Amino acid sequence: MTDLTTVDDITKFMEHFYIRLLSNPIAAPVFDDIDMDAHMPRVVSFWEGIAFGTGEYRGSPFERHLPLELTSELFTIWYDTFCSCLDDLFEGTIATMLKERARSIAFIFAHKLGLEAPSI
Ligand code: HEM
Repeated sequence: MTDLTTVDDITKFMEHFYIRLLSNPIAAPVFDDIDMDAHMPRVVSFWEGIAFGTGEYRGSPFERHLPLELTSELFTIWYDTFCSCLDDLFEGTIATMLKERARSIAFIFAHKLGLEAPSI
């Protein structure tokens, strides 16, 4: 297995991630009203920026989560899905860094939302 090296790798990973996340009966309803065709390039660009320092992401990711009524459990599901999908496809320095960043963002988002720390 190899590490992520291109934006195509991020896209492949995100497609795998959303297939698994949307098959989770607890997480799926959160995405009921989301236009995934518009959402996908934004999250790819977000993770591209973290992985490689490239990409055009400009936004306020935290604010987008405020109306979603998230729970600590949803953060745990999200993070476990993120890690398992990444581990299915890639291994290396970037893959490890993405998991660390995702974990740290999950704690920060949950804390800012006043939620219990996720069990991750
Ligand atoms: C904890 C780490 C998380 C990270 C790093 C993250 C990252 C992101 C990013 C970058 C966006 C795009 C924001 C934009 O369009 O500018 C987004 C949107 C979204 N996220 Fe997350 N997210 C996290 C947790 C979650 C969780 C736990 C859920 C629910 C299971 C979730 C559901 C959503 C939804 C539904 C949107 C679309 C919001 C909208 O377009 O109105 N996210 N997320």
